[in-house]
Amino acid sequence: MPQIAELFRDERHWQAIAERYEVEPGPINLENGYFGRMTRRVLDDYQANIAFINRSNSVYVRQQFERTQAQQIRRQLAQLLGVDEHAVAFTRCATDALQSLIRNYNQLQPGDQLLLCDLEYDTVKSAMRWLARQRGAEVIEIEHSLPASFDGLLDSYRQAFERYPRLKLMALTHVTHRTGLVMPVQAIAALAREHGIDVILDGAHALGQIDFNLAELGIAFAGFNLHKWIGAPLSLGFLYIDPSRLDAIDPDMDEFHYPPSDVRSRTPYSTPNIPALMTLPAAFDEHRAMGGAALKGARLNYLRDLWVREARALPGIEILTPDDPRLYCAITSLRFKHTQDQQPLVDRLLRDYNLFTTLRQGAAFDSCIRITPGFTTPLAHIQLLSKALGELAQP
Ligand SMILES: Cc1ncc(COP(=O)(O)O)c(C=O)c1O
Repeated sequence: MPQIAELFRDERHWQAIAERYEVEPGPINLENGYFGRMTRRVLDDYQANIAFINRSNSVYVRQQFERTQAQQIRRQLAQLLGVDEHAVAFTRCATDALQSLIRNYNQLQPGDQLLLCDLEYDTVKSAMRWLARQRGAEVIEIEHSLPASFDGLLDSYRQAFERYPRLKLMALTHVTHRTGLVMPVQAIAALAREHGIDVILDGAHALGQIDFNLAELGIAFAGFNLHKWIGAPLSLGFLYIDPSRLDAIDPDMDEFHYPPSDVRSRTPYSTPNIPALMTLPAAFDEHRAMGGAALKGARLNYLRDLWVREARALPGIEILTPDDPRLYCAITSLRFKHTQDQQPLVDRLLRDYNLFTTLRQGAAFDSCIRITPGFTTPLAHIQLLSKALGELAQP
C-alpha cells in the first residue's frame, strides 16, 4: 500500500473513496463534524442487520448475540483502541458515556474542587456543575486565551493546578467542537497526575481522525462515540475506564446486571441498538481499509491546511485554530472581523456559494464559523471555500 505521505493528497484515490459513499444532492457539506456518513458497504450491512434482527427478534438476540457476538464486538473495539476489553463498555453516544462517568465518580469530598475550561462541551459543563452541587464541591472555570499554543495551554493548566490545591477532578476535551483545537492531552494528563487530579476525557471528536494510543495518553476515564469519524451507524458510543481505577466510578445507580468488577455495570442497562452494534465489525474494517486514523486524519488536515493557509492571509478574517500540527485536526473555526454576528456570513456562504457550514457559540471568544471537510470533500470544494472567504472578507 502506498505511503500516507503520497496518498493524502492523491485526488484520484480520494475520488475512489468518495464513491464508497452515497451523497444526497444539495449544498456542499462543510459541516462534517456533526456525525459521519457510513460507506455504502457499512450502510448495506446495517440495513441487512436491521432486517435480520427484525425477523429473528429475541430468538437470535438471546441465543447468539448476547451469549457470544456482543463479547466479540466489544473485543474488536478494544483491539481497535489497543486496550483491555474489560476497560470498555458500550453506550448510545459520547454524552451517555461522559455523563455516566461524571455522575458516578465517587472520589469527591465536600470542599474539593473541579476544573472546567470554556471550550468543554456544554453537556459536560452542566454535568460537572451538577456533580459539584451533589458533592458540595466547587467548580473552577478557566478560559483559554487566543491564539492557543502548546506551551500556553500547558501553562494555563499548570497555573490552575497550583492556584487551586483542592482540585480533585477535571474535564478535558481532546478536540473541542467549537474550534477543533486539539488539546495536548498526554502532557496535561501527566501534569494532572503530578497534582493528584483525575481527568475525564471527552474523546467525541478524536476517535477515527487522530492517531492516538489511549493507554499512552495516561487517561483513566474517557467517553467516545463511534458515529463521527469512525463511520459507524448513529447511536453508538462507549466509555473507557482504566481497570485499575474502576473503583473510582460507582455502578450506575446501583446497576446490578453485571458484578461490580465488570465495567459494564458503570452504564445504564438497556436494550441497545443491536443492528448498529452488529454493524461495527464492518465499520472497523472500512475504517482500516481507508488507512485508519493516520491516513484519514492526514487527508482531513491536508484539506484544512489548503483553505486555512489562504484565509489566514486575509486581513478581514481571524482564524481561531492554531497551525501547530499538534493542535489541529479537520475542524477549524474562523470569524469575520467586520461584524460581531457571524450568522449572516454562515447564511451568505450557503445562499451565495452553496456551502453549508455552522455557527458555534459559548466560548470566551463568543461566536465563530466552524468549517469541517469530510471524506467525500474534493479539492474543488475547498477551492470554492477559499474563493468565497476571499470575497466575503472584502470590506
Ligand atoms: C466535544 C464533544 N463532546 C461530546 C459530544 C457528544 O457526542 P454524542 O453526540 O455522541 O453524545 C460532541 C458532539 O458533537 C462533541 O463535539
